[in-house]
Amino acid sequence: MSIITLNRQETCPGAVYCLVAVWEFGSMGMLEDQYRDAANLNARIELHARFSANRVPWPRWVFDHLDIPPTGTILELGCGPGTLWAENGDRIPAGWSITLSDFSPGMLEEARQNLSAVDHEFKYAVIDAQDIPLPDKSVDAVIANHMLYHISDRPKALAQICRVLRPGGQLYATTNGMDHMRELDELLSRVGVTPSVAHNPFKLENGREELAAWFTDIEVCRHEDHLNVTEAEPIMNYILSDLSPDDSQLGEIRRVVEGEIALHGAYYITKSSGMFIARRQI
Ligand SMILES: C[S@@+](CC[C@H](N)C(=O)[O-])C[C@H]1O[C@@H](n2cnc3c(N)ncnc32)[C@H](O)[C@@H]1O
Repeated sequence: MSIITLNRQETCPGAVYCLVAVWEFGSMGMLEDQYRDAANLNARIELHARFSANRVPWPRWVFDHLDIPPTGTILELGCGPGTLWAENGDRIPAGWSITLSDFSPGMLEEARQNLSAVDHEFKYAVIDAQDIPLPDKSVDAVIANHMLYHISDRPKALAQICRVLRPGGQLYATTNGMDHMRELDELLSRVGVTPSVAHNPFKLENGREELAAWFTDIEVCRHEDHLNVTEAEPIMNYILSDLSPDDSQLGEIRRVVEGEIALHGAYYITKSSGMFIARRQI
């Protein structure tokens, strides 16, 4: 397996797709700071994986909602460390042709390593969702989990997704709702730290309007869940994966979280996550 980072002008000898690494976009800072590799994202995934109340793990729930033909062609954008496929390795139909993509080569490498034990042949490609180097109407499904809110020119990305989908093909896009991580965000605000939810422009509550310009039959599915966190450390790691509070702010956050755990046995955090399923017009 190799990660393909071809230039658009290059021919691709024997390659399945001509793929291009596009670096000249405004998300460069995010790539350098946040998504150079999966370390920050893993801290956030760990909090949810360990302390979620819903017994159906998030990646299994997401997979349950995929309605893709047995020989379908699938493009995942912003795949991160490949958690969706690593956690569903036991039930991926043999006929699915799956390309995992991300604009971060470090993330893609992590996905490749995480999936090395999964018995399925994946393709990997560095792709910016705003410039997808695939032919028109060439895929049955596009998966874009917790990534559309990062994209500076989302209409451009949605137009690209629509273009590469076959008529009737579906976009599966997960994101968070307004209340996601509410208690933690309130605590951060109280100590003077701006929580990252303030920066989410594509939420469960407003995403439909944006999708409606390109897609029909838009469905919103919600994953009912909350966190009961019984240790302070994973919360501190979660915060530090994305934000830079000073020492006194961190000390105050730890004091409150540990106090709650001592009093109630756990620090309760509301979750609000779900998935848009949207069909390309026929
Ligand atoms: C919050 S992570 C989600 C990862 C994975 N989809 C998941 O749900 O675990 C967002 C991912 O989107 C990627 N990303 C952000 N902007 C992107 C863009 N314009 N094109 C492609 N990938 C992008 C990041 O590198 C990161 O891996």
